[in-house]
Amino acid sequence: MKNSEKKSIGVFDSGFGGIDILRGIVKELPQYNYIYLGDTARAPYGTRSKEVVFDFTKQAVDFLFKNNCDLVILACNTASSEALRKIQREYLKKYHPEKRVLGVLIPAAEETAEKTKNKKVGVIATERTVNSKAFERELKKLDRKIKVFQAPCPLLVPIVEAGERNSKATDIILSGYLKPLIKKNIDTLILGCTHYGILEKNIRKITGKKIQIISEAKILPKKLKSYLERHGEIEKKLGKNGKVRFYSTDITDKFILLGSKFFGKKIKVKKVELN
Ligand code: DGL
Repeated sequence: MKNSEKKSIGVFDSGFGGIDILRGIVKELPQYNYIYLGDTARAPYGTRSKEVVFDFTKQAVDFLFKNNCDLVILACNTASSEALRKIQREYLKKYHPEKRVLGVLIPAAEETAEKTKNKKVGVIATERTVNSKAFERELKKLDRKIKVFQAPCPLLVPIVEAGERNSKATDIILSGYLKPLIKKNIDTLILGCTHYGILEKNIRKITGKKIQIISEAKILPKKLKSYLERHGEIEKKLGKNGKVRFYSTDITDKFILLGSKFFGKKIKVKKVELN
């Protein structure tokens, strides 16, 4: 295979939150080439309908396929909850059987099922993800005895995007979301949204040390590594120049500023249209 035909790994999110997940992946697997796509012009997805989340996600996947990605990771929990299964079962099967699209939910659910002892699990996520019950479905598939307590947290994405992590109001709002879950005696909490990893320290202050926090940015890189080890047919097609390219449907100061912060170094972003 010529170098120009080598494939990149596509990473998609509704906005820039997924760059936090990409950073972890690049740290663990720096040799591969990556294309990150954020649909900033149409984010947030978390308050949209199932149908719209599916359509937007499919457009994003098509863009990444066209840009030489045969393996795409949906870093967005909302897209993973509402679009992934349909994309895998219907779209890929029919049109792209050689390509793969993976999400963040199953890796997080697997880690949780391994770690929970009392089998009481909390999930915080966007309204769309909570309503989809996708985390509950995946956790119960792994262990039917697991009880899942979910809390939609619509204010957390705007808080992170406004850079308000350190304000007092953030901790008050977080307490309001987390206390009902803590009262259910959960021993494990899934941060089921790209942005929530940024709030992990604030969350830890409220939950205390007894509750284990499952953060996708920490889990996904090792799960992807193990996936590539098990799927040599995909791995061998991947380019290994260590290049990372960023695309977004809108280029805002916030995308560059917070994206660079999430990625750990300054990023350059190209604008694209998806529809
Ligand atoms: N990326 C979304 C998620 O992980 C959060 C932002 C949004 O609602 O678009 O669910």
